[in-house]
Amino acid sequence: ESSNLYIGGRGEQESASGFLGCMRDVWLDSRVVVPGLGPRTAANQFNVKQGCSDWDRCRENPCQNRGRCVKTGWRSFSCECHRPYEGEHCLDEYVTARFGSEDLESHAVFTVEDNPGDSNTVSMFVRTRRSQGLLLVLSNTTSQYLRVWLEDGKVKVQINNFESLLGSETVSDGHFHLITVLVEPESLSLFMSAKSQGRIPIRSVLVQAGDAVYVGGLPDRRASLAFGGYFKGCIQDLRMNSRHLQFYPVSVPVSSYWLQSSTKVTRGCTGDDSCSVSYIYRSSITALVQSLVQFAACSGQQMTGKAGLVSVSLRSDSHIITYRGNGKIRRYLSSISIHFRTRHQNATLLHAERDSQFITISIHDGHIVLELQGEKQTSYVYIHSLDLVNDGQWHRADISMDSPVLQSSRWRIVLDERWEKPSVSFTASGDLDFLREDVDIILGGLGHDSEGNFTGCLGLVEIGGLALPYYSDMEMNQPRPQEERFLRTSGTPYFGCWGSNVCEPDPCKNGGVCEDLFDLFKCHCPSDWDGQRCEFTVDDCASNPCVHGACRSISAGFECSCDAGYTGRRCETEVDVCAHHKCSNGGTCLRGLKRYSCLCPRNTTGPFCRFPKLPVSFCGNERWNYSCFNGGNCSSVEDNCDCLPGFTGQR
Ligand SMILES: *[C@@H]1O[C@H](CO)[C@@H](O)[C@H](O)[C@H]1NC(C)=O
Ligand SMILES: *[C@@H]1O[C@H](CO)[C@@H](O)[C@H](O)[C@H]1NC(C)=O
Ligand SMILES: *[C@@H]1O[C@H](CO)[C@@H](O)[C@H](O)[C@H]1NC(C)=O
Ligand SMILES: *[C@@H]1O[C@H](CO)[C@@H](O)[C@H](O)[C@H]1NC(C)=O
Ligand SMILES: *[C@@H]1O[C@H](CO)[C@@H](O)[C@H](O)[C@H]1NC(C)=O
Ligand SMILES: *[C@@H]1O[C@H](CO)[C@@H](O)[C@H](O)[C@H]1NC(C)=O
Repeated sequence: ESSNLYIGGRGEQESASGFLGCMRDVWLDSRVVVPGLGPRTAANQFNVKQGCSDWDRCRENPCQNRGRCVKTGWRSFSCECHRPYEGEHCLDEYVTARFGSEDLESHAVFTVEDNPGDSNTVSMFVRTRRSQGLLLVLSNTTSQYLRVWLEDGKVKVQINNFESLLGSETVSDGHFHLITVLVEPESLSLFMSAKSQGRIPIRSVLVQAGDAVYVGGLPDRRASLAFGGYFKGCIQDLRMNSRHLQFYPVSVPVSSYWLQSSTKVTRGCTGDDSCSVSYIYRSSITALVQSLVQFAACSGQQMTGKAGLVSVSLRSDSHIITYRGNGKIRRYLSSISIHFRTRHQNATLLHAERDSQFITISIHDGHIVLELQGEKQTSYVYIHSLDLVNDGQWHRADISMDSPVLQSSRWRIVLDERWEKPSVSFTASGDLDFLREDVDIILGGLGHDSEGNFTGCLGLVEIGGLALPYYSDMEMNQPRPQEERFLRTSGTPYFGCWGSNVCEPDPCKNGGVCEDLFDLFKCHCPSDWDGQRCEFTVDDCASNPCVHGACRSISAGFECSCDAGYTGRRCETEVDVCAHHKCSNGGTCLRGLKRYSCLCPRNTTGPFCRFPKLPVSFCGNERWNYSCFNGGNCSSVEDNCDCLPGFTGQR
């Protein structure tokens, strides 16, 4: 007798009420019924697949910089990023623009390209130590209808040259602050972060396409001085409503108003030490670095955890940092996660050893490599990533035991959160519990004088979910000290991520502009120049101008070295070897490759037909007495003797 058994749904193909997930070991009368295998194969299957390769992507914390992960369906997610971050994983950061570097008077002008109307929000991150300076002016052809500047370290907003509002909190403390000006038809509000600084009634202003947005100052110096002069400090992630005002493009496409001009505005936010702990802080050229989190970190508000990427630079004078557990680590250590950025081909990222046990995470030939020797009875594990990681970009390596519940298991490396593509070891080894205490955990080298010190940047490094902090306890007031901790025992990192000064001295010749690509430079050459350092003229050889010869780029264009027998600037002309030939006595010049030869008339010989050819004719030649011997007849046709029988020889 047959009856239907439904699993994961009610028999109709209605997805709304269907089960979403994985099942295994479903038995009916001691027989397996799913997944579609075994003696009782399901009669009908809809949207059932074998295997359970799926996972909740959000569980892997794919959103960086405190971005919020939102499941957008089966196998997919999206990140809601905190400003100033952007991108799929909130890893792209808007590039900070620095104003007034070296006391230059800098400003930028954007053009409003749409008609946003009379209700507008202007917002930006501002960092400065100056108590005055002009931040932003919105202007049409007849008036500067909105001005934002600093006065006594506070933000002041003025509208229509009249109504004005002064913020209550100081911004000129060297930290980044998010400043938001909300202009509504009848009111003006000012916010710092989410905190209101006041609200006043106004007459409405209309922002229209073609209006100008001046940032950091006005082209006119005196007009700028009236509002505290040119701004000195950094501005990041400036927006008007949902439109961006980008000083430098980021890798993710964003819709930005047109940057009409930018005068003495520089990239990055290098400059004053922002950290209360008086570390050198320098920002990198690319994104990721001058994060809000970092500044918060510098001021001691936040340190550990997955919250953000605090990054440090390891350079030749600050190679290694060492750590030890605080003796209270009880948790099971079976994973390591490292964020790093380098162009090194061979370098050690992390190393620790005790007795016969050790772990080394390194970069070898550009691949990330795990070497692990666990407890005695377990074997040696070696895994390397398939992809190269020394491209100067940020990478994340998640190294973990395949089955952390087992005494010994295979290990895996997942690169850049491609969880579906791990590199798995062939051999099995134990966990990392030996790192809990009494062992030096070394970041950036092997600890002794060795090759392979790491040069580059390190972001968050976690062992078993516990961060290796870049700050020592004294340098910060942790609001909620963790019980289990790793403590920094030696080494002073540089905060922020920057590469070496590859553009100084300028490697680019002939007016090329050097771009710093993180420990790698690129020369942008003027149109006539080419080569890695703009040392060649644009390859005039590309069009193969030398017809019969080899081309060489020279400063004045190209030069041909001609094949034998050719001449001319492009080796286009055949050399006429016969032009001045020396064939005498009517000899004919014959052209060869490099030289000519003479075809001589019958009665002459020699290379230039200068010598008479000895007569070889027997018949009729007086030198040979016109005759053959012994009755031979001279044949004038054959020019030899027809001998009588019994005689031979020429004559
Ligand atoms: C300039 O803006 C002000 C304030 O919105 C407005 O009153 C004035 O008409 C505008 N001028 C032009 C030419 O649009
Ligand atoms: C890195 O190591 C490999 C193998 O040991 C070697 O062939 C290569 O030359 C090294 N690269 C550098 C830049 O030292
Ligand atoms: C590597 O770093 C260590 C520790 O900072 C240092 O003693 C050693 O000289 C460095 N090695 C090289 C080759 O720079
Ligand atoms: C070769 O013969 C030509 C006529 O056939 C004569 O004009 C010329 O003088 C001769 N040259 C020599 C070197 O005998
Ligand atoms: C040519 O003939 C004369 C007289 O008969 C003789 O003396 C001479 O040797 C001969 N020459 C040759 C090359 O045979
Ligand atoms: C040479 O010529 C004569 C007359 O023409 C002839 O009789 C004779 O047989 C010839 N001799 C030879 C060897 O051909």
